[in-house]
Amino acid sequence: MEKKEQYIPALNRRWLTPLYDPLLKWGMREDTFKRHLIEYSNLANDHKVLDLGCGTGTLTIQIKQHFPSIELIGLDGDATVLQIAGHKAEAAGISIQWKEGLATELPYPEASFDRVVSCLVIHHLTASNKVKAFKEVFRVLKPGGEFHLLDFGKPTSLIMKIISIPIARLEEAGDNIRGLLPEMLRCAGLSNASEVGRFKTLFGELVHYRSFHEDL
Ligand SMILES: C[S@@+](CC[C@H](N)C(=O)[O-])C[C@H]1O[C@@H](n2cnc3c(N)ncnc32)[C@H](O)[C@@H]1O
Repeated sequence: MEKKEQYIPALNRRWLTPLYDPLLKWGMREDTFKRHLIEYSNLANDHKVLDLGCGTGTLTIQIKQHFPSIELIGLDGDATVLQIAGHKAEAAGISIQWKEGLATELPYPEASFDRVVSCLVIHHLTASNKVKAFKEVFRVLKPGGEFHLLDFGKPTSLIMKIISIPIARLEEAGDNIRGLLPEMLRCAGLSNASEVGRFKTLFGELVHYRSFHEDL
């Protein structure tokens, strides 16, 4: 019998979703790395941008606040987090298009976006789904477009190595901790994957990777 694909929500269990925003804010220096992601993703007001796995929409809303004319879609596979994102945007007086969909089957034609950003999503995917998702990112990016991915990466200090032991054991996050994401990006067609920033958190070391849909 075919194995059912596992879908991992924001905090692994749906009943924990309401705790997601406070945990990110107080436990992971969320402001620091999301501000960095916005600052170093080379975004512009005339861009069309996809926030892949937008969750409760914190990053998506911040992007729209920095770039009010940007065309922005927040996509997530979980309808519950999208509802939270919608309420947060409404409270902030911001209009964003939210879309339910999967990273491995993006509901957009090829060459749709100038930028795809994705924060803390890829460690939810199995190795084969990571490559599938990266191929989808390559497909929907315009030539010359950029993919900015922030997620757990290979730890660089002893303390970060120790902190990373529990998540390194998970099938989905193990690829991140072993430093395999740049090679997976390359396999999917995305070129010149490089590190743009690193952030030490209570749960492990986060890396901002930039890669390109090369304009040939
Ligand atoms: C840890 S949360 C990160 C949310 C947000 N990007 C942030 O930085 O706060 C991971 C999100 O990825 C979504 N997700 C997991 N697997 C997915 C998939 N295959 N397709 C789309 N979204 C997915 C989950 O529903 C969850 O909202």
